[in-house]
Amino acid sequence: MARQGKVTVVGAGFYGSTTAMRLAEYDIFETVVLTDIVEGKPEGLALDMNQSRPIEGFETKVIGATTTADGGGYEATANSDVVVITAGLPRKPGMSRMDLIDVNAKIVRNVAENVAKHSPQAVVIVVSNPLDEMTALTQLATGFPRERVIGQAGMLDTARFSNFVAEKVGADISSVRTLTLGSHGDTMVPIPSRCTVDGKPLTEILSNDEIDELVVRTRNGGAEVVALLKTGSAYYAPSAAAARMAKAVIEDSGAIMPVCAWVNGEFGISGVYLGVEAELGRGGIRRVVESALTESELDALKQAAEAVRAKQGDVINL
Ligand code: NAI
Ligand code: 2OP
Repeated sequence: MARQGKVTVVGAGFYGSTTAMRLAEYDIFETVVLTDIVEGKPEGLALDMNQSRPIEGFETKVIGATTTADGGGYEATANSDVVVITAGLPRKPGMSRMDLIDVNAKIVRNVAENVAKHSPQAVVIVVSNPLDEMTALTQLATGFPRERVIGQAGMLDTARFSNFVAEKVGADISSVRTLTLGSHGDTMVPIPSRCTVDGKPLTEILSNDEIDELVVRTRNGGAEVVALLKTGSAYYAPSAAAARMAKAVIEDSGAIMPVCAWVNGEFGISGVYLGVEAELGRGGIRRVVESALTESELDALKQAAEAVRAKQGDVINL
């Protein structure tokens, strides 16, 4: 497919810079724009990434732009087709994602307003934490239709679950299918009934206790990395997830992925941003995919919806 369109990654920290690099290496966009408020950082990273083009063999151009709170520098992002928002603080050991809400809400609101002004037709992929709340806030602050604002979490949590299953049973990663829904937090809902290894149900391979152990490790997957790194949070698997979402959007691929999407009646749940499977295309979410869940999985998903609904209701006041 010919190169097309423009994607902006806001925030040139670990998550943003690795996402920009992955997107450039896909070689499917005309332009990748990377921004940050730290003067020179996005320009320096863009220069470095462009210098890898002869080695990695991609034509996509990377542009770095320093931005300011009053919207200076956003001209470089104008008319982006996709915007990935990674701006905001990451966790430190002992912190929950929710501990970031006050400081990150101010950052994300400001970014979202500038994105709406300069790229009014963009599909926005939010990754800043706490994810479910920052996704809801971005939709409110941009005023974009809900299908054009999506959060990244389910792709990452599902990938972590798959990796743990593959390691546990000694299988190739390509033979493992797993799924997590719900929130990117304590009410994350791994879905064992949708997990298979070489097409065989996971429930026939591992005991319930063994599956529970992997589920708990998946739910704490982010904290496990934070505890080891000590100075920030994960970014290789997270950036892979956000980049795949941006690719599905620009290619209008119809790929079905677990993402944080606005749910309106599916699974008997309405009026909340929640981790569900959805079909992605050029306009963002084409549809939320409702699949069969066991009774306990559905109950857990409904509980997750109520937990995030309570928090999302308040984000407009942050
Ligand atoms: P980082 O600290 O390496 O980078 C954050 C960057 O945002 C910094 O360079 C900072 O200068 C920039 N920034 C702050 N305010 C800004 C603004 N107004 N405009 C543009 N840039 C701004 O942090 P990292 O590791 O990149 O994480 C970023 C966010 O992603 C955190 O909130 C983290 O919790 C979240 N995250 C989410 C995941 C998910 O699955 N949804 C997974 C991993 C991280
Ligand atoms: C993660 O799950 C901290 O949300 C981030 O790695």
